[in-house]
Amino acid sequence: RGEILTTITVIPGDGIGPEVTDQALRTLDALDLGLDIDMLDHVNAGTYLETGEALTDADFERVRTSDSTLLGAVGDPRVAGTDYARDVLLRLRFDLDLYVNYRPAKLFHDRLSPLRDETRRAVDCVIVRENTEGLYAGMGGVLRKQTPFEMTMDAEINTHHGVSRIVDFAFSIARRSVCMVDKSNAVKFGGQLWQRYWREAAGRHPRLETSHLYVDAAVMKLVEDPTRFDVIVANNSYGDILSDLMAELAGGLGTATSANINGDTGFGLFEPVHGTAPDIAGKGIANPIGAILSAALLIERLGHTAAAAAVRESVNSAIAQRRVTPDLGGELGTVDAGEAIRAGLR
Ligand code: NAI
Ligand code: MG
Repeated sequence: RGEILTTITVIPGDGIGPEVTDQALRTLDALDLGLDIDMLDHVNAGTYLETGEALTDADFERVRTSDSTLLGAVGDPRVAGTDYARDVLLRLRFDLDLYVNYRPAKLFHDRLSPLRDETRRAVDCVIVRENTEGLYAGMGGVLRKQTPFEMTMDAEINTHHGVSRIVDFAFSIARRSVCMVDKSNAVKFGGQLWQRYWREAAGRHPRLETSHLYVDAAVMKLVEDPTRFDVIVANNSYGDILSDLMAELAGGLGTATSANINGDTGFGLFEPVHGTAPDIAGKGIANPIGAILSAALLIERLGHTAAAAAVRESVNSAIAQRRVTPDLGGELGTVDAGEAIRAGLR
């Protein structure tokens, strides 16, 4: 149509990553959006074991210059330690400054909720997790390693720059309310920074309901009545934990999606929340919904709103008809479950 092509870099990764990413790509293909796919299927544990480098500078440039990235999952039981995952996923998050981790949770079907009280099941919420600092920044060290006097330190990094932009992003997407979760009663200095900026930002948004919870109270309230929440904003570690809880309340790990976004440039890396599931890799039973809905988020942010809505609707009806993988109570394999969703698009 004479337009400049939208390029999507794809990193399928390891384990079930390639299996579920393939389903997501077939689904995008069925939508006929004219996307140009740049496949980086050599970025995986095999390459890391062979060369010591999974993501080269040239790979990084392909990602950086594309419009968005779709990632499966990285991690392999053959690779010890955390350097490999750092080399790929954390490098992309940090070096592309993808400071928002956007994790929506919306209950797909009543059947999938673990909550007994029917009136409290309609989960529809987004966790906004700070993605570039906090406890996961890698600041710290070890003294007297492997002696009885070993001392380790992992520092929690909070900057005004980092806190303000994530809180502002949370307000920018809220429809009803924003809840800020921290542990400022125990983690004092960072806590004060979060609290101060939070109050300032809340003052600028009088039309939105705002609340604050300590993280221990937050998990309790989330299980008690998750329907009360719209947007929850938290630091890197609390956001990580809260989003797994929400994923389970909304339908399970196999369905959960996330977007790593730079709120200023709009660049995004989209991935299912689950990992590489070595226990089921290669068996053809991985749930493709997390990957397919991550692809839907990706196209939505590129402006294909109707196509994204169609994918979500199709996922919901596949779930309602139990045309799903065993983790959701169905009997289909990965390919057939993906096919059931694509059939709904035609
Ligand atoms: P995991 O998410 O891979 O698996 C946890 C459990 O959920 C397993 O029992 C698995 O079979 C099940 N599961 C996960 N995804 C599923 C799906 N799509 N359909 C059906 N069942 C599914 O987490 P785990 O076991 O802690 O980690 C395994 C590997 O994945 C590790 O190497 C880890 O580092 C890596 N990992 C990578 C992530 C990423 O790339 N973003 C995120 C989390 C873990
Ligand atoms: Mg996690």
